[in-house]
Amino acid sequence: MCGIVGYIGSKCAAPILTEGLEKLEYRGYDSAGVAVLNSGAIEIRKFKGRLAVLDEDIKKKSIEGNIGIGHTRWATHGEPSDVNSHPHANEKSSIAVVHNGIIENYMEIKEELQAKGYKFVSETDTEVVCHLLDEYYDGNLVEAVQKVVGKLEGAYALGVMCRDNPEELIAVRMTSPLIVGIGEEENFIASDIPAILKHTKNVYIMDDGEMAIVKKDSISLMKIDGTPITKDVYEVNWDVEAAEKGGYDHFMIKEIHEQPKAIRDTLSPRLSNDNTIKLDDIKLTKEDLDNFNKVYIIACGTAYHAGLLGKTLIEKYVKIPVIVDIASEFRYSNPFIDEKTLMIMVSQSGETLDTFEALRLGKSKGARIMAVTNVVGSSIAREADDVLYTWAGPEIAVASTKAYTTQMASFAIIALDMAVKKGSISDEEYEVAINELKQLPDKAAEILEDIDFVKDLAEEIYESEHVFYIGRGIDFDVAREGSLKLKEVSYIHSEAMQGGELKHGTLALVEKNTPVIALAAQDRLYDKMLSNIKEVKARGAHVIALAKKGNKEIEKSADRVIYIPDVTDELSSALSVIPLQLLAYYVASLRGCDIDKPRNLAKSVTVE
Ligand code: AGP
Ligand code: GLU
Repeated sequence: MCGIVGYIGSKCAAPILTEGLEKLEYRGYDSAGVAVLNSGAIEIRKFKGRLAVLDEDIKKKSIEGNIGIGHTRWATHGEPSDVNSHPHANEKSSIAVVHNGIIENYMEIKEELQAKGYKFVSETDTEVVCHLLDEYYDGNLVEAVQKVVGKLEGAYALGVMCRDNPEELIAVRMTSPLIVGIGEEENFIASDIPAILKHTKNVYIMDDGEMAIVKKDSISLMKIDGTPITKDVYEVNWDVEAAEKGGYDHFMIKEIHEQPKAIRDTLSPRLSNDNTIKLDDIKLTKEDLDNFNKVYIIACGTAYHAGLLGKTLIEKYVKIPVIVDIASEFRYSNPFIDEKTLMIMVSQSGETLDTFEALRLGKSKGARIMAVTNVVGSSIAREADDVLYTWAGPEIAVASTKAYTTQMASFAIIALDMAVKKGSISDEEYEVAINELKQLPDKAAEILEDIDFVKDLAEEIYESEHVFYIGRGIDFDVAREGSLKLKEVSYIHSEAMQGGELKHGTLALVEKNTPVIALAAQDRLYDKMLSNIKEVKARGAHVIALAKKGNKEIEKSADRVIYIPDVTDELSSALSVIPLQLLAYYVASLRGCDIDKPRNLAKSVTVE
């Protein structure tokens, strides 16, 4: 969810807006735009692509005016395009809006407005805000905004400007971050501190359900219902570099901590209050599902590891055989693909060439193609028949973290949606699964509340030459992800091995003090894993086990135990991976590695 900047004062607004947006570029975006009010008219310039395109346009033809709003978009509804870029306006261009986040009930609002004759020009959820404001505005902009917000559901931040109220900007925060910058005879709004740090270090940090009326020489803060509030001024002591990471040292640790929100953002817009699932971009019918005799899940790296979890969930709930394969292998393995094949392509970037070429191979042989991706309008999303977007927000660190957990959550709702359509799940099993799923964000947050223990564990292993990860079933799938995380950010050699397979060879490598991370979170496989822990312990290994809270027995066999909250086996991966992500991060930090940009690696691998 991307960048908002607003300005009201005596200076020319456009350059302040574009400079502010530049400071938000790091967050990843696909389009940018500004709206400036000048001599009673709102002028909007907005383009798909880099901010440089907007800058170039404004250089060619400047925009006068001292009040404006700007936006960098991370598309969720409607592919990246000029017309879907923000700011959006009502038909008579008397009101302009920028928006971060998701309006969850935008479709029903859009239908209501269209029935009243409103014409929509974009595919975005955002545009409903403009026409609603048009509907409610009768000269009092604050009241109009209050009425509109009363109709909206979702997590969002808004910046609003009105031709007939040239002396004020309105800012609304409903979950997505928003601040007000306090200047001298000028004031600002922004979604993140770096955007305005050049102009002021004094800000109001808005909280959920709050609104700000920002004039050139005054700022009024209130609850959405109009109740006035007062706030302390927060004096920013971050430098811009730190501020870009929201105060974290690296994007990777920031994104690890964003996981509860990312999982919630991915799930909640798709779960209605009565626990039914609505996947707007997946059109599979019961007939389609009955027609499939196999499912391929194809991906690379971390996305492949998420695909392994998808296999477990789809086979458990949909009762169709699933084959998971690495895209670069799949393409050359003469796979069995026909019209009875469903292929699910998993890709955070939506641009990984191996995965994209595998998609094209499947399409050429008649397979139905579904994409699970984090980038709206990406190559893989555009060529798929169905898409499930993980609304994790931009993932900047090369090491993928929140993409993995949101991909896992996405597979859970895909599998449950398919199972209901296919009739392969009982009502009670469905309810149990859905309720477990809804608790994931809070359980993930619980793990992140107490991470000092993981920092201590990192101290114990960061000088190791080799680290082994072992597990069974889903725990082995997570072990592979934990091992990849350690390798790619700390450069320590690591290997994941099935617990039961260890004795068939790899055990020869285990010696005194060899670190072994043993995942034992699967209830049904716990006893077997305990034997494997004893197996490596007997060879002198330093065993760091991962188990569910309350399991005291394992402390007798392992040197250290990381606990995760109680969770069903099939959803445990979204929780058990978090300590492993943290462990990799803190080990890399102790080794002084370039954590966000590891050597030899790229965020999106667009070569074969
Ligand atoms: C994971 O941390 C790595 N960055 C890498 O394995 C990545 O998952 C892989 O390149 C796939 O990328 P994608 O999800 O964008 O397709
Ligand atoms: N949901 C809005 C859109 O898709 C805003 C996305 C964002 O946060 O940039 O345009």
